[in-house]
Amino acid sequence: MDVPFLNLKTQYKQIENEVLPMLTEAMSNAAFIGGPQVTGLEKEFAEFCETKYCVAVNSGTDALRFALIAAGIGQGDEVITVPNTFIATTEAISQAGAKPVFVDILPDTYNINPGLIEAKINKKTRAILPVHLYGQPADMDAILKIAKMHNLIVIEDACQAHGALYKGKKAGSMGLAGCFSFYPGKNLGAFGEGGAVVTQDEKLAKQMSMLRDHGQEQKYYHAVEGYNGRLDAIQAGVLRIKLKRLKAWNDARRKNVAIYNELLSKINGITTPVEAKGMESVYHIYLILVDDRDGLQKHLAGKGIGTGLHYPVPLHLQKAYANMGFKEGDFPVSEKVAKRLLSLPMFAELTKEQIEYVCESIKEFF
Ligand SMILES: Cc1ncc(COP(=O)(O)O)c(C=O)c1O
Repeated sequence: MDVPFLNLKTQYKQIENEVLPMLTEAMSNAAFIGGPQVTGLEKEFAEFCETKYCVAVNSGTDALRFALIAAGIGQGDEVITVPNTFIATTEAISQAGAKPVFVDILPDTYNINPGLIEAKINKKTRAILPVHLYGQPADMDAILKIAKMHNLIVIEDACQAHGALYKGKKAGSMGLAGCFSFYPGKNLGAFGEGGAVVTQDEKLAKQMSMLRDHGQEQKYYHAVEGYNGRLDAIQAGVLRIKLKRLKAWNDARRKNVAIYNELLSKINGITTPVEAKGMESVYHIYLILVDDRDGLQKHLAGKGIGTGLHYPVPLHLQKAYANMGFKEGDFPVSEKVAKRLLSLPMFAELTKEQIEYVCESIKEFF
């Protein structure tokens, strides 16, 4: 049996009947940039996230970058985030002109450890940028409390957490802005690049709308220098078709997680994901920890099972950040997790038989 890490082809089969007419219409009308598909997606995604505004953009990286810039963060500012994230999180901070400042993570949820944040706050600190990693929200009450006490902005990196819940609230709806990626493999993925920022703040939404479109207030009247960061109409059309099914797909992922957890709990030496109290993860990634991670990954590859590493090297130890002068041991929890983590196949259409086969193969390895 082959079990791919991700299978977007089966997902496409479910929506093909709606996608093809949408593509034909877009091409017949030559409606490629902006227009009703984009505004329609913005309305529907804002509703889904329970926010007033949504600004569709070209990627999750643009979402983060525009949110930071629109919030006034730039040169000389510091933004607190985690080292165990995709580099886009810190690229956005640096490209806004600010400096990323790392805080280690909690050993059970792999999200930012709120207890370590205050030690990193100084006069330059302007924002906290928690990442809802693997689909589970960070501890937002604790983060928002610290932010309020120190007059800091909170921008959520919800790029892996479409529809996740924190005490009943949607990921992305709790900070000043919530940033999403619609990269194809995400829980809500386009047929190319895409992203969005959601917010309750009208001024911020307007500013981000300008930034994504060369700083235009109206055509050829530029209030500021901006970017080419628009979402195209075809991607918006695809995303609207998928958004209607997102809740069901997230529920299917959660059902798959229950089967994995149950079967893997019978094997010693595996740490399965922990959902903290009040959280509902959407399991963008189903991640386990094992001591001989490389050995297990190789064994599973031999069995036709696809796996991933999210992420093998924490950002503070990446070559790109060598100039920051960090060394091994600076963020011990992130480092320990990075050495042991392994992402197993996870998508809505995964079958019980496939999960059983993966777990059987893991058991065999042990
Ligand atoms: C946590 C996180 N932040 C940011 C991004 C950037 O999103 P994009 O690839 O759409 O630019 C991603 C996507 O991979 C991500 O997983």
